[in-house]
Parts: sequence; C-alpha cells; structure tokens
Amino acid sequence: MNVYDVIRLRRDVRAEFTGEVVDDATLLRILDAAHRAPSVGNSMPWDFVVVRDPATLNTFADHVADKRREFHADLPADRAETFNPIKIEGITESGTGIVVTHSQSRGGTHVLGRATVPETGLYSTILAIQNLWLAATAEGVGVGWVSFYDTPFLTELIGIPEDVRPVAWLCVGPVREFQQIPDLERFGWRDRRPLDDAIHWEHFTHR
Ligand SMILES: Cc1cc2nc3c(=O)[nH]c(=O)nc-3n(C[C@H](O)[C@H](O)[C@H](O)COP(=O)(O)O)c2cc1C
Repeated sequence: MNVYDVIRLRRDVRAEFTGEVVDDATLLRILDAAHRAPSVGNSMPWDFVVVRDPATLNTFADHVADKRREFHADLPADRAETFNPIKIEGITESGTGIVVTHSQSRGGTHVLGRATVPETGLYSTILAIQNLWLAATAEGVGVGWVSFYDTPFLTELIGIPEDVRPVAWLCVGPVREFQQIPDLERFGWRDRRPLDDAIHWEHFTHR
C-alpha cells in the first residue's frame, strides 16, 4: 500500500475490533512510527501509556458511558434520535488503550519555533497520533479516538503527572474490516465537506 491507499483506508474504528489483542511487535512498530513524527524544536513532547488491565479498561468505559449519556441528554430530540445508534468507543473490545499525553515542558524553555505559537507543542503531539493511526491502518490494526472523558478523571486513572496532559485515549486492536464510509456519515450525523470548500486561493474567501 502506498501512503494514499493508507490515508483512504484509515477509519475511526468503534465496532469492527476482532477481540484479539494486538501483539507487542506490531504495537512497537506502530509506536515507532508515532515517535518519528515531526515536532516543534524537535521537542518530541508526547508519551504513550499502553493500558491493557481489564479493570482499567472497564473503569474508563464506564466513565465514557456516563459522558455519552450526558451528551445525549443535552441534544434536541431529532439529534438525539440520530445519535442513538452511533457507537462512540471500543474500549474493552479493542483490548488495548493507548493514552497519548502531551508535555509542554519537554524540551526546556527555549524550544526553537514555539516562542511565537505556543500551541505548536500540542500540534506536534497530534502529528504523532496521526502517524500512529496511519501506521496502524497499514498493519490492519484499527484505531478509535475517544474524547468523551473528563481530563481530571483520566489523569487520575493513569497517574499522569501534573505538568503533563492527556490528549487522547486511542482504542487499538486488530479489525475484521475497515468501513468505507465514516460512521458519522453512515448514520446521518454529519456529511463529508467537499474539498473545494476547504481550498482557498491567495486569500481566505468568506463563503
Ligand atoms: C480529536 C478527535 C476526537 C475524536 N473523538 C471521538 C470520540 O470520542 N468518539 C468517537 O467515536 N470518535 C471520535 N473521533 C473520530 C471522529 O468521529 C472521526 O474521525 C470522524 O467522524 C471521521 O471519520 P473517520 O476518522 O473514520 O474518517 C474523534 C476524532 C478526533 C480527530
């Protein structure tokens, strides 16, 4: 597969995990790809916490279920109905969670290129996640990003230090198949935005 094939194949996976646990050799290749991401000032501000303890997976899944219920309760009736069948995580089915964290203090005080745009630190960690996601896809391993959580809850659960923040819980595991169409499109939650809408030439066009 070339890079375009992998980009097209990649999906946010929730329901297609096989239930097998990804083996460590594959997992380490995927994490190596993540760790090769570009980063501002070469600061590499990410860490990856691999979580497989069923007790931790269950505790997190229960918390996420609470957050899903809260979100659902806030929706107007028609959106609530559209949301009903949408699965938002595969925490226990995937068997492996990777908590990606970001450390803004990594690299010291003079991070080359971060002085003017402090968020470039966080952008770097997100690029590591994208590398991870694409490498996993090439390995036939699915990734599902879960953001239905309270940051203090996840911080406490994983024992994340004070100056480090969790950025994502990624459900990672072998998949039966990759859906061709994103779940949120398939279930009528939100359609794909045409590329033409996102491209501007010379100046930002207000559309
Ligand atoms: C920052 C971020 C947070 C996300 N959080 C969730 C989430 O909590 N639950 C979920 O099911 N999907 C989550 N997703 C996945 C998106 O819903 C998904 O990427 C989008 O619908 C497009 O589908 P695709 O990734 O399969 O192309 C998240 C994605 C991103 C980038």
